[in-house]
Amino acid sequence: MRAIVITTPGGSSVLDHAEVPDPVPGEGEALVEVAASGVNFIDVYHREGRYPLATPFVPGSEGAGTVSATGPGVTEVAVGDRVAWANVLGSYAEKQVVPTEKLVPVPDPLELDLAAAVMLQGMTAHYLTHSTYAIQPDDVVLIHAAAGGMGLLLTQMAKTRGAHVIATVSSEAKGKLARAAGADEVLRYADVAADVRKRCHVVYDGVGATTFEDSLAALRPRGVLALYGAASGPVPPFDLQRLNAAGSLFVTRPTLGHYVATRPELLERAEDVLGWVADGSLDVAVWKRYPLAEARQAHDDLEGRRTTGKLLLIP
Ligand SMILES: NC(=O)c1ccc[n+]([C@@H]2O[C@H](COP(=O)([O-])OP(=O)(O)OC[C@H]3O[C@@H](n4cnc5c(N)ncnc54)[C@H](OP(=O)(O)O)[C@@H]3O)[C@@H](O)[C@H]2O)c1
Repeated sequence: MRAIVITTPGGSSVLDHAEVPDPVPGEGEALVEVAASGVNFIDVYHREGRYPLATPFVPGSEGAGTVSATGPGVTEVAVGDRVAWANVLGSYAEKQVVPTEKLVPVPDPLELDLAAAVMLQGMTAHYLTHSTYAIQPDDVVLIHAAAGGMGLLLTQMAKTRGAHVIATVSSEAKGKLARAAGADEVLRYADVAADVRKRCHVVYDGVGATTFEDSLAALRPRGVLALYGAASGPVPPFDLQRLNAAGSLFVTRPTLGHYVATRPELLERAEDVLGWVADGSLDVAVWKRYPLAEARQAHDDLEGRRTTGKLLLIP
């Protein structure tokens, strides 16, 4: 099969489109013909070695497709089932072996590429808005990079829960998208310090290094900063004593794996998110569908801040 293979960590040029042996499902696993694989910032961290992995490896952490074979003893899924998954490495490929405990069913009317588009970011936006900080009606919420893949989903979910959403973006065009997703106020990053001081119940910050200080200053006493990513680089070491003086603040650094750690929790979040996309109540804005062979271009576009919404690779 064709797959993207990384043999040495580095820039996007290390993403090689190569011929590799077909994977074979073992006990508790299924082989899936990948219909679409999502591109996520974590793929960049894996590629760069910021989250080190043993080489060589096939990157990619989410996808959707059709089961084409099952390993010994598998009864949970059958050949022909439409399935999706997140947090299983190896999705930048024509075929992937996935543990069946990680597979969720894709509801019938939903296209497989849209299911792939929403597994990782959709379930992340779900746990951030429902569990890390369960947004209440009229809460004031700040969402950074609101026109990004995560940002557009977070904005929609926060609005559904009744929040007043303040969004940050880097351009006029991105601001229009954030507003269309429901944002009540749209700001440039430079305006946050002056306009959003001590107003927010929660800040969702996936940008990291360049936004962290403004995110803290935007919180009202006892507010929550969910620092869920580092698109601009990691936040430097931090003196916890500052949280006291700033208003008994909370800072958390959550990750999806801990919020879909059990089978019931995974199914509940996936059913919600896939169901909302299927019934049209959650919009997944696909920026571009790239052929698998163009993974380098997809990474360059994502890192270069040229994209909005979701990037997909189509094998
Ligand atoms: N913890 C978790 O469970 C989890 C799960 C999924 C994703 N994440 C995190 O969520 C964040 C967003 O991921 P995504 O895949 O949805 O990406 P994305 O938001 O579509 O793209 C990143 C956006 O961040 C903004 N940005 C600001 N400074 C940047 C910089 N120096 N370099 C690049 N981008 C910059 C850009 O928007 P503007 O041009 O508008 O500034 C850019 O479009 C990432 O940090 C990712 O690691 C975390």
